[in-house]
Amino acid sequence: MADMKSCDLRQEIERRRTFAIISHPDAGKTTLTEKLLLYGGAIHLAGSVKSRKAQKHAVSDWMEIEKQRGISVTSSVLQFSYDGFQINILDTPGHQDFSEDTYRTLMAVDSAVMLIDAAKGVEAQTKKLFKVCKQRNIPIFTFVNKLDRHGKNPFELMEEIEKVLGINSYPMNWPIGVEGDYQGVYNRQLAQIELFEKDGSHGQLALPSVKGSVDDPVFTEIIGADIHNALCDDISLLDMAGDHFDLEKVMRGELTPIFFGSAMTNFGVRPFLEEFLRLAPPPAPRMSSEGLIEPDNEKFSAFVFKIQANMNPAHRDRLAFIRICSGKFERGMTVHHIRSGKLLKLTQPQQFLAQDRTIIEEAYPGDIVGLFDPGVFGIGDTLCMPGETFTFEDFPVFPPERFARVQPKDTMKRKQFIKGITQLTQEGAIQVFFQADAGAETVIVGTVGNLQFEVLEYRLKNEYGVDILMNFLPFELARWMDGEKIDAKSIKGLDRGMLVSDNKQRLVALFTNEWALRWAVDNNPKITFLVVPPEKTGN
Ligand code: G4P
Repeated sequence: MADMKSCDLRQEIERRRTFAIISHPDAGKTTLTEKLLLYGGAIHLAGSVKSRKAQKHAVSDWMEIEKQRGISVTSSVLQFSYDGFQINILDTPGHQDFSEDTYRTLMAVDSAVMLIDAAKGVEAQTKKLFKVCKQRNIPIFTFVNKLDRHGKNPFELMEEIEKVLGINSYPMNWPIGVEGDYQGVYNRQLAQIELFEKDGSHGQLALPSVKGSVDDPVFTEIIGADIHNALCDDISLLDMAGDHFDLEKVMRGELTPIFFGSAMTNFGVRPFLEEFLRLAPPPAPRMSSEGLIEPDNEKFSAFVFKIQANMNPAHRDRLAFIRICSGKFERGMTVHHIRSGKLLKLTQPQQFLAQDRTIIEEAYPGDIVGLFDPGVFGIGDTLCMPGETFTFEDFPVFPPERFARVQPKDTMKRKQFIKGITQLTQEGAIQVFFQADAGAETVIVGTVGNLQFEVLEYRLKNEYGVDILMNFLPFELARWMDGEKIDAKSIKGLDRGMLVSDNKQRLVALFTNEWALRWAVDNNPKITFLVVPPEKTGN
């Protein structure tokens, strides 16, 4: 019986693929996500969820602010199945002012799809997100999008990826035809041509295709001898001069397989999806305080990577998103919440598709589950079986880089203001600091990006009925101070900085730039300036 159970568990793990699509705004992430859902049968007509011209938001956009701005502020998750695979796509905000949410989401995935606009190449946001994935050594698959129109030459794009991102690449397929008017793709592994039929529907429906060997004379006839010859030349050049395909290198994040296509016209989307699912890794083991936790360990474990309140006006509640790391999750099970030491019964687990939420009965490693959060969960928390006491590796803390003094416009709203600020801090949306001589209704808010301030303003107004005043401060760096008996008054170099404390009364210095920080470091030899809170040193 136990063997049957572990066999089922292993099968469930093997068929799971949990990934995020990383890209610069406008590269086509929303369109590609929608097309993957289309092929997965989760929606039947692309654009049916998103009326593109009328309102530019997609299935994965939830919050009102996202709709207004046409961007995805909060990361969300979509689950669907395709060809026996169970797919979890974690959405990462594409806006350039992205927040810590983006980083945290990347902690919960097993691989990433890097989407690049063929005309624009590697852009700033892609670079940033790529770096986070690279640090985690997760496999990165590249989809070069918008091949239906003129863009950079495919060889040029490969070179750019290698130069700008420092990762070698291996084209899995190659576009066939004249730039801007491609007719299909050549599958290098199978030496097969796949031509796409254009149906004029702008990719609303899954695109039919014809497949066959590159040597089949039928194709020479259809695409013409010139194009066939050019394709053969390109392929032999790639075979001779390009990198070899090495799956182990892909798994270590040292080689990125590249796919060419167009999300809008569906060109190359299905071959990409199928090949990606075949190559991308199932859920990997995770490091914990007691060593690696294998996904097929039968004891359930998970960590919280995101907390979100009032996600949907129809459900005014707070959800903690967990990523399952091992074992089977069952509705109603009792788990050990390590940080509080409490045993919790998980009664209303939810999964997501678009705006629908469904109560789930069971879930497996790699799956994301939304748990109703009565206020006990924090980012990075570990959940495991009663009796187990390990914790997953610490979540990275991302030091804030933007700061503002924030207070309610109307002092009568002080209570709601503090409630809202406390909740947003628990969600990890902002970090809060206090100034010794300021009243309780004035806080210093620190964030990773400017957009978080807009979210703060919007949410305080809409969810707590508080209008706020924000004064932006000229600081860019926060350092926690560690040392024996620090006397705030004797710290040197803070005349143009600011001394604050965090919500655990730990001292934090804010600096305007690296130079000011260096000066303080040099002139306060008894103090250590730390990028993250000195949790383990017991300050
Ligand atoms: P994002 O989520 O990465 O920000 O991008 P999104 O999918 O919203 O796409 C950005 C724009 O790029 C959209 O155009 C979209 O239609 C277009 N696009 C996406 N994939 C392709 C593609 O393969 N080929 C071409 N030619 N365009 C593509 P828009 O004008 O902003 O919106 P809409 O008028 O099409 O709705």
